[in-house]
Amino acid sequence: IDELIADGVAGKRVFVRADLNVPLEGTTITDDGRIRAVRPTIAKLAEAGARVVVASHLGRPKGAPDPAFSLAPAAARLGELLGKDVAFATDTVGESARAVVADLADGQVAVLENLRFNPGETSKDDAERAAFADELAALADLYVGDGFGAVHRKHASVFDLPARLPHAAGQLIVTEVGVLKKLTEDVARPYVVVLGGSKVSDKLAVIDQLLEKADRILIGGGMAYTFLKAKGHEVGKSLLQEELIPTCLEYLARAEKRGVEFVLPLDVLVSPDFPDLKTKAPANPTTVSADAIPADEEAMDIGPKTRELYASKFTDAATVFWNGPMGVFEHPDFAGGTAAVAQGLIDSPAFTVVGGGDSAAAVRILGFDENKFGHISTGGGASLEYLEGKTLPGLAALED
Ligand code: 3PG
Repeated sequence: IDELIADGVAGKRVFVRADLNVPLEGTTITDDGRIRAVRPTIAKLAEAGARVVVASHLGRPKGAPDPAFSLAPAAARLGELLGKDVAFATDTVGESARAVVADLADGQVAVLENLRFNPGETSKDDAERAAFADELAALADLYVGDGFGAVHRKHASVFDLPARLPHAAGQLIVTEVGVLKKLTEDVARPYVVVLGGSKVSDKLAVIDQLLEKADRILIGGGMAYTFLKAKGHEVGKSLLQEELIPTCLEYLARAEKRGVEFVLPLDVLVSPDFPDLKTKAPANPTTVSADAIPADEEAMDIGPKTRELYASKFTDAATVFWNGPMGVFEHPDFAGGTAAVAQGLIDSPAFTVVGGGDSAAAVRILGFDENKFGHISTGGGASLEYLEGKTLPGLAALED
């Protein structure tokens, strides 16, 4: 981006592909981390006199306008963070977008409506994506890719559009990739990885890679129960991906063979029903041993012994990577495990990286000071796929 600015951006329309996919409750943003993370790139371009056109997806609408997924709240928040008016186009490539972009003065910023309101954005059909990318290209002179959270998506605005305009990587992408390099090239050891989140299927590829790289892997969240079941424990009504038990067994065996410490919960918090996340009514959970989950109960957080054990695994670590909450942190009765891991990272002397939309949001929603972590990534799937060693379309498109 610095080279792009040095070449002169004043008066130019610069398309910034950001990831403003923030969690919302109605129209209230519950975590604005992703907006704050891309603000410096947008501010820098505006200060250099560019006419900045910001675009992003939000959620997974079905290729048509849907007010529940409007970027209007994110545009308003961006305006507050920049301390200036930000124009908002009520469509992405239509009349409103064309008018808003045409009206931009040097140094002004506009946000387009959700890219995914257009089927071409996410289409698997190359021609359909190309046609949408052509329409987007007509709105700009230059392209800056800074939506790190979406670089693993082969979508029109991420992959096809940079080929159509002179392009550069934004500051956020440069920072994120720099940190992830520290986790893949010459990582400082012991290297401890904490993985959580609901589905083990989302984490298999990264576990496969990490079994070759990490010294310790700690498991929590919904994905832990498929591993516990694989070890022969009953898991009651807890999340389970039965078909993946053979893969979990294979990974456990590989960890043992390679001397990777693979740590599963010792105890868990259970309750008969999933808690109400809206009213947050007390769920009155009980703590049980991880090998004695009652048949009619669902485990929704790691228990106190596990929290203590996991915290002890960070004290001598040199690098810690954490992706995925340890339980249903959105409910106060099941937030303790995720909070304990966050505190463990803060107390650790290691270089700590929190990766993942959910765990990053959890850290902030639970009130931790984000400056106490080495790095909080804006990428969930994107960071995981980077660690898996995959080619990320949005990075590849910026490389030439
Ligand atoms: C994310 O939240 O990980 C990114 O914004 C990408 O969103 P997606 O998984 O809907 O593509």
